[in-house]
Order: sequence, then C-alpha cells, then structure tokens
Amino acid sequence: MSAEESVQSIENSATEVIEHADSLSDLEAVKVQYLGKNGIVTEQLKRISSLPAEERKSFGQAVNRIKTQIAEQIQARHECLEQVALNQQFLDQSIDVTLPGRSGTIGSIHPISRTLRRMEQIFDQLGFNTVEGPEIENDYYNFEALNIPANHPARAMHDTFYISDHVLLRTHTSPVQVRFMKEHEPPIRIIAPGKVFRCDSDVTHTPMFHQLEGLSVDEGVTFADLKGVIIHFIHEFFEAEPKVRFRSSYFPFTEPSAEVDMGCVFCGGKGCRICRYTGWIEVLGCGMVHPEVLKHGKVDPDKYTGYAFGLGIERFTMLRYGVSDLRYFFNSELSFLRQF
Ligand code: PHE
Repeated sequence: MSAEESVQSIENSATEVIEHADSLSDLEAVKVQYLGKNGIVTEQLKRISSLPAEERKSFGQAVNRIKTQIAEQIQARHECLEQVALNQQFLDQSIDVTLPGRSGTIGSIHPISRTLRRMEQIFDQLGFNTVEGPEIENDYYNFEALNIPANHPARAMHDTFYISDHVLLRTHTSPVQVRFMKEHEPPIRIIAPGKVFRCDSDVTHTPMFHQLEGLSVDEGVTFADLKGVIIHFIHEFFEAEPKVRFRSSYFPFTEPSAEVDMGCVFCGGKGCRICRYTGWIEVLGCGMVHPEVLKHGKVDPDKYTGYAFGLGIERFTMLRYGVSDLRYFFNSELSFLRQF
C-alpha cells in the first residue's frame, strides 16, 4: 500500500467512526483519537520529517488534506448532534395541549340552602315575596310587639342570648312580621327566612338554626286560607300527599293557634322510630295574627285579618332527605355535603 493509500484509509476509517458517534462525548473521543496530541493523524504528521525528501511534499499534502477533512467532518457531526440534543430537549419540555385538564372539585349547595330555595320557589308561586330582617333584634320586636310582655312565661321557653338589656339575638323569625307591617300596607304576603338563635344545645338542638316565617294580611283572610296554603306547601315540598292535621295550640302572637302535623313520611303513618310510633310528625306552628300584633304593625284589626306560620328549615331538610342527625348540617363534613 502506498503512503497516499494508507493516508486515504485513515480518512475512510475516520469517516466511519465519526458517523457512528452517537453522542457529543463519543465524538470528542474520536477527535482525540485522530487529531489529539498522540492521535492517528498527528502521528502521520510527525512521520513527514523522517521521509525521503521527494516523498515529503506529496505525503505532507495528503496528510494535511485528511486532517482538514476529518476536522470538518467532526465539526459537521458536532453540529448535527447538537441539533439532535436540542430537539430532544424541546420534545421533553413541550406541553401537550391536547391532554385533558385537571379539573378542580366543584362545590355543592348546602342542604339547608337547597331546602330554602325550594321553599322560596313554592311560596313564590303562591304570590309570597321573600324578605329579611335583622339577626340582632331588640326586645320590642322579638317579644313585646308579638304580645309577649316582660315576665310572660313564653319568654322562658325562648332561651334567649342577650347582648345587652334590650338587645338580643332573635329567637325566631316572627319579629319580621311586625317590622314588615309597619313599613307596608296590606295586602301583605311575605316569607322571611333566616337564622335564629337559642341558648340550647343537645342532640336535637343547635344554638343556631334556620326558620322560615310566613305572613299574609288582607281584608277577609281566614283560617281556611291558612289551611289551604299549608297543605299545598307540604304536598309540594314533599312531592307526596301525606295527611296533614291542625292541632289546637298556643302562641301569644296568634289566636287561634295551631300546630301542624303530617303523616310520617318514613312509615306512611303506620308508626316507626322517627315518628315515635304515633304515625305523625310535627312540622310547624301557625295561627291567625293576634289583633294586638296587627296594632303594633300599624294595621287596623277591624279592617284586616291575617295568618302567620313559622317552620324549622333543618327539620324539613331532615324529613325530605332522610338525614338522621341535625349536627351533620353544621360540622362541614365533606362526605355528607357532597351528597347534595
Ligand atoms: N315563632 C314561632 C316559633 O318559633 C313559630 C310561629 C310563627 C308560630 C308564626 C305561629 C305563627 O316557634
């Protein structure tokens, strides 16, 4: 093999290894192997001086040519590998916008709010507007104007939270009756839902709960109107037609007064643990607005009559959804709340 041929075979083998170098570090090793201080090409350059004078020129040219070509090939491969590495990096960092997003958890409406909305809807269809009154009340609206004077035994039943002598947390939504009558002329047809407070806490009582008050005042309003509205409401609310009975009762602010029972929705009236084997469940208090209360509301009792009712929203929610413990409504347990 002539000197030129052996130089050419060095280049051929170099081309081969350069093409097979798969990484920048492999390529760097190839560079050292051929062009390094003791590299294959460098060794050939060192040989030049030991050659006969007539061979030096052509041999030198040949070695220098492959040296340049190998260096260029290495450079080209280097750029290629860098591009590949860059592409890989882009690929690794790219975001697949077609992947499904991570969805957040969606909250649900609290069962008490849900019941309230349902009640508002039913009464809205009967022409009742929803109004509100203050949770912090004074003695006058919570008791006095509702025909419960100081020392009246009914006050003892209310377990009132007092803020000061005459300021308190309302114990029922009935004070809204008088507040509204004072500001509006009959015909009046309102419901007033909201929080009420009683200093009472056990398995079936929480210090805060929700009531919904109803009030209708006009000329010629009778107990029959009250009965019709209540029975319609219960049937609509439960989407069933349980029996409803009006049991004579007493409230200082209504006369006559009644408590309303409905046939037990759990046993169909046969008697079970929930209805304490009576077949009946007590659901609300009501009556014809007492003339004294109308007077406090600046409504003429000789011209107008009215009825009022008050119900516990928690109780209706428990009956409708079969919730067995009142405390579920207030302890923020997600496994409970997510069911609504
Ligand atoms: N305010 C009464 C209560 O809290 C309920 C009621 C309202 C009764 C209106 C009659 C009329 O028990």
